[in-house]
Amino acid sequence: MRRLGVFAVCLMASAAWGETPDANTGAWYFARFCAACHGERAMGDGPMQEVLTLRAPDLTQLSAGNDGVFPVTRVVRQIDGRDPMLAHGGEMPLFGELFAFPDAALPAETGQPIVTAQPIADLTAWLESIQE
Ligand code: HEC
Repeated sequence: MRRLGVFAVCLMASAAWGETPDANTGAWYFARFCAACHGERAMGDGPMQEVLTLRAPDLTQLSAGNDGVFPVTRVVRQIDGRDPMLAHGGEMPLFGELFAFPDAALPAETGQPIVTAQPIADLTAWLESIQE
């Protein structure tokens, strides 16, 4: 019985922390959910640009604009809606429930883990990989 308990806890722990963020999966999500505004290569030149009042920023410059440090916390919070951005749907993120389930963690700039959804962890890993 006790062994079963330990097993259950391990299972829960591994589910709670999700998998290692995967940039390839992140690229797939980006093409589906973000490229319309941000552009296929995230340079701020998506086809929706014409109808946007605010320009979608070039996401390859996030580190450059932050003293060379990729702003993990800011990016995660801007995608999951914790920092509501009107362009992303404000308090109701455009991406809806899909990205809402907190089942992953990735290291923030401080080294502390930041908890988020696996698709957002993957997206963030991809964005980090394309910084110029
Ligand atoms: C409807 C168009 C649209 C979609 C879809 C969209 N974005 Fe954005 N995004 C914007 C605009 C416009 C801004 C700039 C908002 C502002 O400056 O207030 C922005 C800002 C951002 C920022 C902030 C950049 C910074 O300098 O802090 C990040 C990160 C971002 N988007 C990532 C994403 C990701 C990842 C997705 C897909 C999950 C996505 N966006 C989908 C339009 C969009």
